[in-house]
Amino acid sequence: MCGIVAYIGPNQAYDFLIKGLKRLEYRGYDSAGIALIENNEIKVFKEHGKVQDLVDNLKGKNLSGNIGIGHTRWATHGEPNQKNAHPHLSGSGNLAVIHNGIIENYATLKEVLIKNGHTFKSDTDTEVLVHLIEEIKTNEKCSLFEAVRLALNEVVGAYAIVILSNSDPDTIIAARKGSPLVVGIGKNKDEFFMASDATPIVEYTRTVTYLEDNEIAEIRDGQLNVKTIENREKTPYIQNLELSLEAIEKGGFEHFMLKEIYEQPKSILDSFRGRIDSQNLKIEMRSLNEFENKIKSLKRIIIVACGTSWHAGLVAEYLFEDYARIPVEVEYASEFRYRNPILYPEDLVIAISQSGETADTMAALELAKKSGATIFGVCNVVGSSIPRITDAGAYTHAGPEIGVASTKAFTAQVTVLTLLALGFAQRRGTISDSKLRNILHEIERVPSKVEKVLNSCENIVIQISKEFYKSSNFLYLGRGYNFPVALEGALKLKEISYIHAEGYPAAEMKHGPIALIDEQMPVVVIATQNEIYEKVLSNIQEVKARKGKIIAIVTENDEKVKNLAEFCIEIPETEDSLIPLLSTIPLQLLSYHIAILRGCNVDQPRNLAKSVTVE
Ligand code: G6P
Repeated sequence: MCGIVAYIGPNQAYDFLIKGLKRLEYRGYDSAGIALIENNEIKVFKEHGKVQDLVDNLKGKNLSGNIGIGHTRWATHGEPNQKNAHPHLSGSGNLAVIHNGIIENYATLKEVLIKNGHTFKSDTDTEVLVHLIEEIKTNEKCSLFEAVRLALNEVVGAYAIVILSNSDPDTIIAARKGSPLVVGIGKNKDEFFMASDATPIVEYTRTVTYLEDNEIAEIRDGQLNVKTIENREKTPYIQNLELSLEAIEKGGFEHFMLKEIYEQPKSILDSFRGRIDSQNLKIEMRSLNEFENKIKSLKRIIIVACGTSWHAGLVAEYLFEDYARIPVEVEYASEFRYRNPILYPEDLVIAISQSGETADTMAALELAKKSGATIFGVCNVVGSSIPRITDAGAYTHAGPEIGVASTKAFTAQVTVLTLLALGFAQRRGTISDSKLRNILHEIERVPSKVEKVLNSCENIVIQISKEFYKSSNFLYLGRGYNFPVALEGALKLKEISYIHAEGYPAAEMKHGPIALIDEQMPVVVIATQNEIYEKVLSNIQEVKARKGKIIAIVTENDEKVKNLAEFCIEIPETEDSLIPLLSTIPLQLLSYHIAILRGCNVDQPRNLAKSVTVE
């Protein structure tokens, strides 16, 4: 939540800051602001609303300065408005700060600062931090770096911060704990870029370093120096960015979400590319080999995740139990971390997270780590926090996902979890070679089948959207592997079209949601051919008998459901366990088109953020 950018170098900072904030807007978009230093003076500009609102209000202003910081906000402390927007200034106005995260003990600090004569202009926790830094700098008569270091020793919480000072106008100080911060080193080594992720930086340089937790960086006179908050020198680990500019642009699509939906044949392929060899029955993932003994004796897997990633976890529960015969518990990370859960050193705890930064998922993993369990990450963003703390993991390689509602990350997560479940099954001897061969062949066919779904279903999806976009409720039903798909379909619709939607196991409907069904209620049923197809058919009859409107996702050439449903969307036949990879696609498109017809901002839905770094 919240995106931050900073620049110091020979060029004007403004363009980088604004372009960067637009790239990071997925992290929060309720207000935005920048600060620039020119002639030893800090100029702050901020606005309620999106980055574009800020830009519109800056026309005609003097925006020059070779050093600057910028922020796009997702409100935590203090409502979204201009006064709470970042950057925040210290009492004297000599320091400016931007912050992503939460200062948990801000109320106590604020009380002390007020007693010491400080007055505050905003309701934010961040303003307290910049006042604290200034107070320490004045009292201790120390350098800005030292004041920041001492202040951070008093702070409880999570942060990525960048600070400017008009009395030190050639210096930038940044620090991180719990929230990400990347530093880009310019080609001529005379300019530096900072951002919450690498997307604002890649256009300018590929040489970067990721700050670690509890590190403070100082950039001065073209030098980057890093120390820990305990004052130990650190040598930054410089690496090369592997990210293409095209991957973070819309590429001719109207929205990132639509682009990402259409990218799925490729992102699914990328998630298993080089990892399976169906001829020789091999699943090659480093972690499978490293943990071979552990996998063989494993008694339990616990999956922790949030949002869409939690739905991928539910699919994984079926996969691991079906193939590897290991009991699985799937937990909301936010509940797990506060529940005093029972954990054993023999457990394997898998965290699933697109961003690799979700605060609750991180905290759940840290808890598991303390209990001695092996912790494993399935993440998309390379170099993010979760992969840094896990014992092992597998990246999903879906490429940057910018639309706030997750689409291609979900299908990549499900693919990687399928490979893991099969890899575990093979090592535990719970799957026959012929079964494994069939599934691996089928996985190789998934990208072309997804392509087929994308090419064939958009027209019917648009027709369905036109019919139902004014509905106020939707019900999504599925069984077996399609139950998590029903949950995910409902979540997508809620997130981007603001229609209330519920996902339910189809048979469970009669224990409650059936009371909601009348001629107004669209009911999306995922009714693909499998062992429980006939049972789902009975559930459809139950909806029909109450005049519900049925939108069905069916296997190609299905006849029975067609006779009952108002609308049918066909998907190709595949292994039952791989069905979520196909049945999810039309549901993503349905939520997209309904949201468009309702005039919603699909890439930046209200109140949401993509990377939830607060609990
Ligand atoms: C937010 C996003 C969702 C995402 C969830 C978990 O709510 O809007 O799309 O599924 O966080 O995020 P993660 O990065 O951990 O997968």
